Amino acid sequence: MTNTKVEGKSDALVFFGATGDLAYKQIFPALFGLVRDEGLTTPIIGVAKSGWTLDQLKQRAKESVEAHGGNTKSEVFVQLLSQLRYVDGDYNDPATFQELRKQLGKAKKPLHYLAIPPVLFGTVTGQLAKSGCADNARLVVEKPFGHDRATAAELSRTIDEYFAEGNVFRIDHYLGKEPVQNIVYTRFANPMFEPLFNRNYVRSIQITMAENFGVQDRGRFYDQTGAIRDVIQNHMLQVLATLTMDPPTGQKHEASRDAKASLLKAVRALTPKDVVRGQYEGYHKVPGVAPDSTVETYAAARFEIDNWRWAGVPIFIRTGKVLPVTTAEAIVEFKRPPRETFGEIIAPSSAHMRFRIQPDVTVALGARVKVPGDRMVGEDIELVLTRQPAADMPPYQRLLGDAMEGNSELFTREDIVDAEWRIVNDILDDVTPLYGYAPGTWGPDEAVELIGTDGPWLNPAPAGKAG
Ligand code: BG6
Repeated sequence: MTNTKVEGKSDALVFFGATGDLAYKQIFPALFGLVRDEGLTTPIIGVAKSGWTLDQLKQRAKESVEAHGGNTKSEVFVQLLSQLRYVDGDYNDPATFQELRKQLGKAKKPLHYLAIPPVLFGTVTGQLAKSGCADNARLVVEKPFGHDRATAAELSRTIDEYFAEGNVFRIDHYLGKEPVQNIVYTRFANPMFEPLFNRNYVRSIQITMAENFGVQDRGRFYDQTGAIRDVIQNHMLQVLATLTMDPPTGQKHEASRDAKASLLKAVRALTPKDVVRGQYEGYHKVPGVAPDSTVETYAAARFEIDNWRWAGVPIFIRTGKVLPVTTAEAIVEFKRPPRETFGEIIAPSSAHMRFRIQPDVTVALGARVKVPGDRMVGEDIELVLTRQPAADMPPYQRLLGDAMEGNSELFTREDIVDAEWRIVNDILDDVTPLYGYAPGTWGPDEAVELIGTDGPWLNPAPAGKAG
């Protein structure tokens, strides 16, 4: 390995897959934000094999920034275009990387961002190393990191050949979301909440990530992925870890990732009885989807954490396409008192903490208060600790900015990715039955049986109607 840990700021940003969907949807808007808010002035070099010119890439950047609400008549955008370069070529061809080396000019600490399918990671990292572009360089890789535990380990070995772990930044964009950071902050900045987050006070935890749209134009990708690989193995397990990890200890850089890794290593591996998979009616008609596909577009699962803090507390995660709303929300339900002193019949979720991640952001505390009058009867209320219409900084801007600085706290680590795959590895693909569900519903009825008396499922409200 020619690549030892890089210190200080990266002085060039290279992104592979420059003409692709992710670049259009996330990377150009993030770059625009970085130039505007962080004063990014380094060369930005797009690489792809599309037969494009630099002018075509600039046009694409314009369309992307416009579509995402940025002003392309601004000085910031003119500045961004002046930093943009483009290398067109095959990733198997050494000439592509010689050209990249040339375009890097005087840059001594480039950052290479692989916004390309993982099957190409080995080819590209190898070519980066051979051409000298990997010297003193950082590497950012996109999810999905591998297809299962074994392929993820294989991928890590390939990357390890050319890049030191300290220079590798594995993206899980949920970690760049402000409200996910706010879960960590709320838990560990308030000494009165932290003592409640354990088996003595918590009855259950539910995490829901719902989308009211289908697979859209991503049929080919999605049909090889499915909901468990697409979002449970990564985004949802990160939220679970954020809600349940121990407080990071000490000031050291890795403290938070260490706490998360140790939690994820304690999550029990799922078995078939813990999982319900669903597929929405009409999924087979999506272009790129196999006519007999048994890939899930919905999954619900019951997790347990084998440590002292959480032993016996059921944790439910649910995600799906074409559900009634688009939201992500986590609810920590506290236990009811051992005896209902006032003889009321009270929903188990009355006392809770609710973290709404998107589209709007809320942290709220659910409790019961007495209704005015002579009877000892109460009602459920929610004390809103914070509510914002949406998170400010888009996650990709935050994450790319951090990677350029060499700050890896909000990226997953090799052992974390392995721990995540271990949890889902035995229930991937067709190990469990697949149930149909109608678009616009909350998924198959079997999920209701899964949650049983630990339920009911708490369906998040649509945008603007929460709490
Ligand atoms: C991606 C998944 O990682 O996350 C998509 O591949 C999903 O299927 C998306 O729609 C959700 O991200 P967000 O930020 O919109 O919740």
